[in-house]
Amino acid sequence: MTEIKGLILSGGSGTRLRPITHTYAKQLVPVANKPVLFYGIEALVEAGVTDIGIIIAPHTGDEVREAVGDGSVFGAKVTYIEQAEPAGLAHAVLTAEDFLDGSSFVMYLGDNLLRDGVPGLVERFRAETPDAMILLTRVEDPTAFGVAELDEGRVVHLVEKPENPPSDMALVGVYLFSPAIFDAAKRLEPSERGELEITEAIQTLIDDGHEVRSEVVTGWWKDTGQLADMLEANRLVLDDIVTRLDGTIEDSRVEGRVIVEEGAVLRNSVVRGPAVIGRGAVVDGAYIGPYTSIGDGVRVLNSEIEHSILLSGSSVENLGARIEASLLGREVRVTRSDSLPKTMRLLVGDRAEIEIV
Ligand code: DAU
Repeated sequence: MTEIKGLILSGGSGTRLRPITHTYAKQLVPVANKPVLFYGIEALVEAGVTDIGIIIAPHTGDEVREAVGDGSVFGAKVTYIEQAEPAGLAHAVLTAEDFLDGSSFVMYLGDNLLRDGVPGLVERFRAETPDAMILLTRVEDPTAFGVAELDEGRVVHLVEKPENPPSDMALVGVYLFSPAIFDAAKRLEPSERGELEITEAIQTLIDDGHEVRSEVVTGWWKDTGQLADMLEANRLVLDDIVTRLDGTIEDSRVEGRVIVEEGAVLRNSVVRGPAVIGRGAVVDGAYIGPYTSIGDGVRVLNSEIEHSILLSGSSVENLGARIEASLLGREVRVTRSDSLPKTMRLLVGDRAEIEIV
């Protein structure tokens, strides 16, 4: 069987999830308490792809290394490849040339989540050996994605983030390539946004008469690049969880599908699933509503939270209002004092977004 390597892109700048991603790789933001990136690694391993290169950025690379290690916990062998600047997806491929060493490979964008993984796609690529295989799905706003124009199922034209999309078929962030992609990527010029676009490299393959096949996604797909997508991905993943109550539950009501990890404590609270409460979290006098992921070591005291993600170590105490559709970073503290008059005291990092509703 021909060897297929994996290339996961976990570099980039993460501007759309600021301030969380100022110091933190966006691919490490957790969905249902598991970093988005881990779902990608697991998907590749499940498809039999275990020799994996991970593209990292200089400022967030160490965190990715620390989180993933040598890959052995996933059953993979991971090699880190530093990309000096986020100069585009095709630039990332060129940066990985030594690692890929003439193999065919699956490229997986580290902020993408696919419910059904990639085993079917990889199997088809192995059987049909085209030069590229792309994954497509219908989207409401194609202007935010690469878009494919098809003619009787054949890909005839690809365009990156078009103002006037030729179809509603977006490119999903999983691609399979033969080494022919290198010659195409080397001939690219930077696009209007200053990047070497993988979409244009695939168009070059088509123009050169190479075989480019496509498949439409089954199950859901999410690009978690923005807050709303992150919360939606959290909702979709939580929809599939199975109840497991390993923590301590005292005088509390747990309804629906809920995971309470070992070492977590629920006291005088109501948790309405689907929801997950991380290790060592303390939930006291609180209401945790559907589609909420409470990270490890988080404290929620006398407060209500719904449809939100709270990263590890943050705390929410004595709020008079419910937190909804929110993402709190690590070690964030949200409190309210009872003193009058009701004013606000804020200590907030650069480019934070606070909405009082
Ligand atoms: O999510 C699907 C879309 O992904 C496709 O429809 C587009 O055709 C494709 O260009 C890409 O668009 P995005 O604008 O969403 O890509 P983004 O800049 O978010 O980068 C995707 C991942 O790759 C992300 O995990 C960061 C990483 N990356 C990005 C760049 C530009 C790198 O590792 N290096 C880079 O130079």
